Amino acid sequence: MDTKLLEGERALVTGCGGGIGRGIAKALKAEGATVLGSDIVAPPADDGIDFLAADLGRRDGWRTLLEAAVTKLGSISLFVHAASPRRLEADTPLSVSEETWDAMTGINLRTGFFLAREIGRHMVERGTRGRILLITSQHREMARNLHYSASKAGMTMVMKELARVLAPSGIRVNAIAPGAIPGGGFVADNLGVLIAQIPLGRPGTPDDIAQMAVAVLSERFGRYVVGTTLEVDGGLGLISWIPAKA
Ligand SMILES: NC(=O)c1ccc[n+]([C@@H]2O[C@H](COP(=O)([O-])OP(=O)(O)OC[C@H]3O[C@@H](n4cnc5c(N)ncnc54)[C@H](O)[C@@H]3O)[C@@H](O)[C@H]2O)c1
Repeated sequence: MDTKLLEGERALVTGCGGGIGRGIAKALKAEGATVLGSDIVAPPADDGIDFLAADLGRRDGWRTLLEAAVTKLGSISLFVHAASPRRLEADTPLSVSEETWDAMTGINLRTGFFLAREIGRHMVERGTRGRILLITSQHREMARNLHYSASKAGMTMVMKELARVLAPSGIRVNAIAPGAIPGGGFVADNLGVLIAQIPLGRPGTPDDIAQMAVAVLSERFGRYVVGTTLEVDGGLGLISWIPAKA
């Protein structure tokens, strides 16, 4: 029988109550990792994911989560940051409130950075050749939904610099930018029109993202992948899909 790809790994996954984070948590577990998922919303119990409630919208939320996660897991060798507030089309650059800006950048960028940095430090101190994966978005390069795009662009730079600094310790940091993945935070006014434009001819699923997460986190497939953003989008990034009025 084939060895599972992530046997012996100890993973913390944020956003495990949502579409993509839940898919990733389940896929890591299926590949043999011990998985601790965190969110403000618990995943269904039959996922079998060990769950820790944490509000990352609180300024000290990341610290509380990390302390509890290390207590539960003992050590962390894989970290995935998939938690994010939902992007609303109504929040344009001219209308977005300070509260919405703070919530979006706080959970995506601030929390993403401090969790990734501290978990990186934790790995270095223990000599763990760990892996860190940030879930960003194609919006990181789009002039649309300023607070969301800015937070994802910032996460991309955090990913790149942590990748450079941590790679000499054998720790690989990367990002996945999903395409259109209904079933979680994805909203589109006209989904049918968008789907018709996706070169592969269908929207993505959380498991499409999760399988790439398994691959890049594994040392069998991802061992030489450092500081990159994997576009997992059925080709959506090849076309211009910003609606004219957005
Ligand atoms: N779905 C898509 O099409 C798509 C496309 C590109 C990028 N993404 C990114 O993928 C990731 C997952 O998105 P999704 O589609 O699964 O969305 P989702 O809304 O289903 O999942 C996000 C999760 O984050 C959690 N969260 C929100 N606020 C929180 C808080 N204060 N504390 C802790 N957890 C909190 C939510 O409860 C939710 O379970 C996000 O980073 C999103 O930006 C999604």
